[in-house]
Order: sequence, then C-alpha cells, then structure tokens
Amino acid sequence: MRPIWFDKTDNSVNIIDQRKLPHKTVIEKLISVAQVITAIKDMYVRGAPLIGVTGAYGVYIAAKTVSDNCKDIKSYIDAECQKLKNARPTAINLIWAVEKVFQKLNFSANIEDIINTAKKEASAIAEEEVENCKKIGEYGLSLIEEISKKKNGKTANILTHCNAGRLACIEYGTATAPIYAAFDKGIDLHVWVDETRPLNQGARLTAYELEEKGVKHTVITDNAGGHLMQHSLVDIAIVGTDRTAYTGDVANKIGTYLKALAAKDNKIPFYVALPSSTFDWKIKDGIKDIPIEKRNSDEIRYVEGFCRGKIEKVAIMPQKSPAANYAFDVTPARLITGFITERGICKANKEAVLSLFPEKNRSKTYG
Ligand code: MRU
Repeated sequence: MRPIWFDKTDNSVNIIDQRKLPHKTVIEKLISVAQVITAIKDMYVRGAPLIGVTGAYGVYIAAKTVSDNCKDIKSYIDAECQKLKNARPTAINLIWAVEKVFQKLNFSANIEDIINTAKKEASAIAEEEVENCKKIGEYGLSLIEEISKKKNGKTANILTHCNAGRLACIEYGTATAPIYAAFDKGIDLHVWVDETRPLNQGARLTAYELEEKGVKHTVITDNAGGHLMQHSLVDIAIVGTDRTAYTGDVANKIGTYLKALAAKDNKIPFYVALPSSTFDWKIKDGIKDIPIEKRNSDEIRYVEGFCRGKIEKVAIMPQKSPAANYAFDVTPARLITGFITERGICKANKEAVLSLFPEKNRSKTYG
C-alpha cells in the first residue's frame, strides 16, 4: 500500500496516517485544503517527496472546492496554494510540487478542465518520484556492492537516520532504495536504524518497512552511531534530505549533522540520497538560508507508544522545564562523501551537481 493514492471510484485522495504506524493502519480521505494542511503540519504524511505529492494533490482539492459563484478562480486557487506551501517550511518538495501543478493550470479553461489538469499533474509527480527513487536504488546499489566485495561477502553494515523509505516517498524510498536493491540482489547486509527522537520515525517507520521486507536491521538510540563507527560496525551511512542547496549543504532530520561528523572522524563514507525535487537551486549557503522548522515542544515532553491495545501518550520530563524542538539540521557539504540522485552519483559540490543537472546551470544566476 502506498502512503498516498488517488481512488478513481470516488475521485478521492487517500493517505495513511503515519502517526499511528506501526501499531495501527488508519486511512484518511482528504476532502478539503484545510485537511491537507493539517495532514502535512501534524505529520499524518511526512518525508520530503511525500509532502510534495500531498501538496500537489492539495492543488487538485483546491480546484475541486472552487465555489459556483467564485469570481476569480485563479486568485482563489493561488491563495490556497500559498497556504499549502506554508504548511511545513523545510522540505522544498512542497513548494516545488505545488508550484509545478499551479503552473500547469490554464485559467481560461472551464473548471472541470482545471480540476482534471491538476489531478493529472499531481499523479504525474507521484509517478515521477517513484521512478526517481527506483533509479536512486539502481545507482546506489554499486556503493553497497563495492563494500560487500571489499568485505568478501561479509555483512555490509549501513546506518540510516529518520525515515527516508517508501513511507516518506511513494515507493522504494531514497536512502532505502539502494538497500532494497542490494537486498534483492542477495547481498548480505544489515541496517542500523537511528530511533530518531522525538517522533521516532526510525524506530516506528524505517524498522517497520525493513521488517516487512525481511531486511536485517537493529534499532539504536540516536547517540549510538558514533560508538558503532569507532568499532568498525558501520561501513556506510546513507540518509535522505528535505532540502539540499545546489552547493552541497544538506538539511535533514535533526541529528544528521552529528552522524556526518562522526562518520568523517571515522573515515566512513556518508552519502545523501535525493531526487532532483529536493534540490534548492537558489540557496547557496545551507546553514544560513535553509529554514529550519521548530515544532511544538510537546513532541519532546511526551512519548507515544502502544500499551494495552491502544496508542497512549506519556509525559517524560518535568512539566515546568522548557523544551525546544528543532526538527532539522544542516550538514555542510564538506562532511558529505556524495549524493545519490536519479541521474547518478556525484560529489557534494556545485560543479558536480550542476554537471548532473546541466539544465539548471544558469551560470549568471549562481555565484
Ligand atoms: O519530519 P519528517 O518526518 O518529515 O522528516 C523526514 C526526514 O527528515 C527525511 O529524512 C527526509 O524527508 C528525506 S525523505 C526521503
């Protein structure tokens, strides 16, 4: 089951509420733009490519909800798009996908045509992301094959952070695509899964995905990676990203930077897997310019888990202590061994990125 799908029988957009996974599979229908925004903000759907696709379907829903007496359809949909784009700030896929759909709309056509175009374009983006993730898997496979060869077929140990798997995308995932490709080829591998506090996307979602596919894995605390690296228990780290500057700086789930530092100190390759929809072709300095989401501190104060047949929430810190919930951090390009993209693997720098994506090379624009 994909994390989002269009149901032709009732023309509805359906999602899995990932807040409840792995304990319960709850499906929600998105009917209004307000619901789409809540689903993105409150993380029923999460992960950069999936946030993008959900936003794209949000434009379709905006078109569907234009009222009969609307005087200016373009302005109405545009305003709804602005709201969609503001739902979460860090993943650039959201802005990219919403704008991509909006730009396809012909506002001199009748509303049925506008609705159809929006639906078609959103579905096309979803399929494009699936295809991109598949290619990331094909390219990234070579890295794991190489490790396995060097170790004479002994277990290749991969560390990943957060969930950059099929649930964060549509299928395959980004960071997990090379893992699945290597697993399908029969390579002996094992994945260290960072639990990824505070919302535990690693423990809840990545572990769930790997378990369902039968990939050997172990969930670890977020702080265990450095220790494992010092003891040669990690051969490669592969993570996803929410926004990557074309110059090579990578925003990803909070804690990614510390893993990259530990990997550098231990001479362990640190790769970032991403589709082109996650590149920011304008931002030059990731640390300075990528907006970092700060979420509700209750996500730190409470932990949710499965207890006596239901999902329960428990307090884990003194009520009066303040908590700060930075959701992402930026790993500077110098700590990254390379990018795995749908066009191949490249170094994390402007020249290498633009040589894979020459159509973005408007050298006058980039400093
Ligand atoms: O807050 P989340 O769960 O949306 O954060 C997700 C991540 O940080 C992923 O690593 C990133 O989106 C890459 S998904 C392929």
